[in-house]
This record gives sequence, structure tokens and C-alpha cells, in this order.
Amino acid sequence: MSIFRRKRPQTVETETAPVNTPVKLAVVYYSSTGTIAAIAQELSTVAEKAGAEVRLLKVAELAPQAAIDSNPAWAANATATADIPVATPDDIEWADAVIFGSPTRFGNITSQLKQFIDTLGGLWAEGKLADKVYSGFTSSATTHGGQESTLLALYNSVHHFGGIVVAPGYTDAAKFADGNPYGTSHVDAQGNNPVDDTTRAAARVQAERERRLSLNLTHCKTPDSTTPRCEAERARNFAAARNAEIEASIAMVEAMRAVRKARDAQIASSLAAAKAERARKFQIARNAEIEASVARVDAARARGEIVAVSDLEPIETGAINFDDLPTRVVAKPVLRSTSVMRPCRAAHYLASPLHFSTASANLDDDMKTRLDQLAVVAKACPRISIEVHGHSDGSGPVQINRSMAERRANAAIDYLVAAGVERKRLTAIGHGAMDPMMPNTNAASRAINRRVEIDIKDPVSEVAQKIMGDLAELLDPTYKPQLARLTP
Ligand SMILES: Cc1cc2nc3c(=O)[nH]c(=O)nc-3n(C[C@H](O)[C@H](O)[C@H](O)COP(=O)(O)O)c2cc1C
Repeated sequence: MSIFRRKRPQTVETETAPVNTPVKLAVVYYSSTGTIAAIAQELSTVAEKAGAEVRLLKVAELAPQAAIDSNPAWAANATATADIPVATPDDIEWADAVIFGSPTRFGNITSQLKQFIDTLGGLWAEGKLADKVYSGFTSSATTHGGQESTLLALYNSVHHFGGIVVAPGYTDAAKFADGNPYGTSHVDAQGNNPVDDTTRAAARVQAERERRLSLNLTHCKTPDSTTPRCEAERARNFAAARNAEIEASIAMVEAMRAVRKARDAQIASSLAAAKAERARKFQIARNAEIEASVARVDAARARGEIVAVSDLEPIETGAINFDDLPTRVVAKPVLRSTSVMRPCRAAHYLASPLHFSTASANLDDDMKTRLDQLAVVAKACPRISIEVHGHSDGSGPVQINRSMAERRANAAIDYLVAAGVERKRLTAIGHGAMDPMMPNTNAASRAINRRVEIDIKDPVSEVAQKIMGDLAELLDPTYKPQLARLTP
């Protein structure tokens, strides 16, 4: 199954729980003058070296401070072990194995250790003292001195716990030296015999045996360890292992997502760069086209050929999608080609005004020549129609001006008809003096205003111009269409 489809499990299975945690061993002791404290330290060190997780704990002192201070060895031990934590019932619940230590007191354990044991009633009631491994160690002032009875007295309580007494017995050669099969013991000769190698060897045997048998008996190593504690232990271990696996999976997915996100960002960046590069190349190519086109037109003009400016040149680089067009590119209208324009388009260039003498509608030779050219074009291009707009210079009354303007327009139309253009394609409009090209303030201006203007109507060209105008507007955000010219 893909790791991406894995969901965080809602429940934790316990069947395959690994059991590989170290034995948890509590060494709980009482010591006045340090003998038991020294043995406790030895047991802890050995067990720890053997792989156990050890808590070295002392029980609370009950004796008054004055009693402690009155005995230098007692006071010195209290100071030396001040940092040793005081045991609590939680420590016993935590432990797989417990080794209690107490000096003998008239053949029994000390009241301090007994007081601590008496705080375990709550755990006992819950069954939490059962199924653990227990043993004890002791010391006395004299040989024998109550050592065995002290340990047996301790073990009385262990039986009530439902605990498993793991006495050292004579399971090691060292035990024949200290000679106490009930537990490690030492004779201190009232402080004159410090803990020696014999006692330390016995402590080593006891610590290692306690840890090993605890592993086998209480540490849930075997699959059939069905005590509540073992099941809880297995559940805890499995949950920890499973959660670690889940966290590792999540971390892996998140890492892969991060990689994917970085890759997407890289792709987006590459695409943006490619788009910018395409736009740049497009602009260069387009500018080259424009320059070439202008050069061709200039060359054509130099040869005296007629060229048109009525069209936008097609975008030869049009393979580029409109979405890819750079917004700043301005498509300039350029001359289409150097070829001679077709006559229908050339008609527009024959349409400059014809100027008349004062109070005259007569056509001179130059006017006739141009009207002849227009007639040729009109006959060749049946789709066009021609409007002739007559104007006067405003030097007379309005009626006279209007009449003169109409006469001038009709003179041009009559000439075109005579030249073979169908009259129905021609329209005369007299404007009078209403639309002068220049203010009628002097003779030169009035001469310019005495005129007819010829307006070629080409429906195809108009449609084409509209399309190209729309296209220019689309390409050029700065494009502004020309205002329509108002006519009276
Ligand atoms: C109140 C009391 C009773 C004791 N009873 C005995 C005893 O019955 N037999 C014995 O050999 N030592 C007895 N001792 C001596 C201690 O058990 C012995 O010195 C022990 O090793 C001290 O251990 P500690 O140094 O850890 O306090 C007694 C000591 C006290 C204070």
C-alpha cells in the first residue's frame, strides 16, 4: 500500500507487541550507619551493569534528629545519602523486581522499612504488588545475629503481596562464602567490619539472579504472560512502536510533500521564465517584421509605386497563442507589401478635394484628369459607390452658397457619368459654407474652401478596417479608436 494512502490508525493492536525493555529494578533500603547503604549501592551497580533499569531508593527516616546526631556514623551516613531519593508506592508499582534491605533489629526488619511496607496497602488492594520478583538483604552486628530471621520476616510480607521470592540460595560458589541462602548479609561488628568482597560477591549473585529471573518470570517476555501488568506492558510497548512507525510515516509523507511543493515551485518558475523568454523573442521577431515591412514600403515608394496603408499586416509570428502575448507589445499598423495596390484600394488616393475658382462650378483640366482616373477605378470596382460633397467659401448669401456647392458636386458627378460611371452609384451633397476647411478670413483660405470632396464607399474595405481596428485594440492597450467625423 502506498504510504500516501495510509491513515493514522484509530486503534492500536497488541498481538505483535515487542517486549524488549529492560527489567525495572527497585532497590529499597533503610540504613542507619551505612552498612546496608553500601550493599544497596553494590546491588544497584551490578544490576545496572547487567542491563536493568534501576532505582536506588531509601525509605523515610523515622528517628528524631537528636538520635541521629548522637551517633557520628549515623549522621555521616545521613549526610552521604542525602541525595538518594525517598521511596514511594509508585516506585513499587513501577518495578518488575524489588530488593528490600534492612539491618536487623532484634531479628526483624527496621521500623522504617516496615513503615514503608505498610504504605503499600493501596497497591496491595489493587493487586499491583503481585507477580513481581522480591528478595532481601540485611546486616547485623554479630555473626548470625538474626540475619535469616530478618529476611524471613521480610518475606512474610512478600507472600502476602502475592510476590515471587527469588532467594539466592546456593546457586553460585560465592554463596558458600557468605553462607546465607536467604539473601545477601553482612556482619559489621558494630562498625568495625566494613562491607567486604565476600559480601559484594554475594550482592552480585543476588542482583544478577534477581534481574535474570525477573526477566523470565515477570517481565512479560513469553507470549503466554497474561497478567494484567504484562498485557498493559505489551500494549504500551506496541503503542509506542506503532506510534513511532506512524510518526515516521507522517514525517516521510510530509518530507515528500515538501519535495513535491519545491518541485512545483521550480516548475512554475521555469514556466514563467519560459513565458517571458517567448514574449521577448516574439517582440524581437515582431519588431524585425515591422522593420522589414517598413523597409519594403520605403523601397517601393522610392521606385514610385503606389502602396496602401489601409491594412494591418498579418502577424506572421501568430503561432504564438494570444495568452502568451506580452501585454506591452504594441502592434503597429504597417504597410502590407511593396506590390502595387489593387485599383479598388487605390481609389481612396484619388479622393483629395478638387478646388474651384470664385463663383464657378467649372472643371479645369487637372480636375478632369483626376476625375477620369476616378472613373476608371469606379468602373473597375463595381462594389464601390461615390459621394461627392460640394462646398462654397461663404462669401455670399446662404442660398447662393448652398446652390454653388450643389452645382460643384453635380459638375463632378456629371463628368463621371459622362466618363461611363453609373449615376446610381453617385451621390451629390451640397453643404454650402457650413463645413469650411479653413476660416473664410482671406482669399487663400476661401480658395481652399471652394471645393468638392470625394468620398469612396467600399463596404469590403470598411469591414476589413473595422476588423483590423478591433485587432489593433485587442493587441494594444493604449489604442484609442478615432472619433467618427460629424457631418451636417
Ligand atoms: C535497635 C537495634 C537492634 C539491633 N539488634 C541486633 C541484633 O539483634 N543482632 C545483631 O547482631 N545486631 C543488631 N543490631 C545491630 C545492627 O543490626 C547492625 O549494626 C547493622 O549492621 C547496622 O546496619 P546499618 O549500618 O546499615 O545501620 C541492632 C541495632 C539496633 C540499633
